[in-house]
Amino acid sequence: MTNLLKGKKGIIFGALDENSIAWKTAERAHEEGAQFVLTNAPIAMRMGQIKELAEKTNSEIIPADATSIEDLTNLVDQSMEILGGKLDFVLHSIGMSVNVRKGRAYTDENYDFTAKGWDVSALSFHKVMQTLFKKDAMNEWGSIVALTYMAAQRTFPDYNDMADNKAYLESIARSFGYFFGKEKNVRVNTISQSPTPTTAGKGVKGFDGFISFAEKMSPLGNASALDCANYTLTLFSDLTRKVTMQNLFHDGGFSNTGVSQEIVDVFQE
Ligand SMILES: NC(=O)c1ccc[n+]([C@@H]2O[C@H](COP(=O)([O-])OP(=O)(O)OC[C@H]3O[C@@H](n4cnc5c(N)ncnc54)[C@H](O)[C@@H]3O)[C@@H](O)[C@H]2O)c1
Repeated sequence: MTNLLKGKKGIIFGALDENSIAWKTAERAHEEGAQFVLTNAPIAMRMGQIKELAEKTNSEIIPADATSIEDLTNLVDQSMEILGGKLDFVLHSIGMSVNVRKGRAYTDENYDFTAKGWDVSALSFHKVMQTLFKKDAMNEWGSIVALTYMAAQRTFPDYNDMADNKAYLESIARSFGYFFGKEKNVRVNTISQSPTPTTAGKGVKGFDGFISFAEKMSPLGNASALDCANYTLTLFSDLTRKVTMQNLFHDGGFSNTGVSQEIVDVFQE
């Protein structure tokens, strides 16, 4: 432990169970001396085990649907009250596609489902930041991070409409990052993570084959949820103050690999 986040305060969205990337991030942030509020959608509170995490990390839980401005306003107000001041970091670790859940193909989208998934997975990031911005809730040199996937740049057929949601999410990070940088000296980035066995990850069709493929393609192997948590912490720390408006690949080298020897071997007679 290095006390990398000693004295820092924040909000962590999206810890559902111990596999969640947000769960690992909360555990590691706690170990590094941070204080934070945990939040998730009210329905996820009932299904998940967030209370266990709150006890372990000495943190309070405030339910909020990330698509509701009313919930987000209450979350930000209450968090500043509980933590005793403005925030240094926020993690947006939220994703959900209704089309994926209901088995609708990309070529057969139900557009009500599409709109809902976009609101939850992409627009919610803007809503979170707009709420923080208007309330002037971030300390100078604070850091805001959202999680994304490389399907925003390249096609992965089974990722469905989440690919479009991630492209939109990454664009919001750049656009809001400009204003947050200029006016508040706050940085905004997305981390593009390897496939990871979580509830959201495993919801993607063919996930098992896909994660094995990525493992064989990546020179360093897939990045785990814990690896992602550690990388996220560096972006919350004071060591990365001038990194902003970036989409940062955290994938063991997958995104820059054309083909690996292991994959060639599979096709070589
Ligand atoms: N698992 C992967 O393979 C992978 C790869 C790259 C990026 N990501 C991204 O990482 C992030 C975290 O996902 P995860 O893999 O830890 O899965 P997860 O299922 O553990 O987390 C997703 C979270 O989103 C929350 N959520 C859904 N709707 C919400 C709403 N309306 N308001 C507030 N919260 C809501 C869920 O309750 C859950 O806690 C997501 O953005 C996901 O797209 C995941």
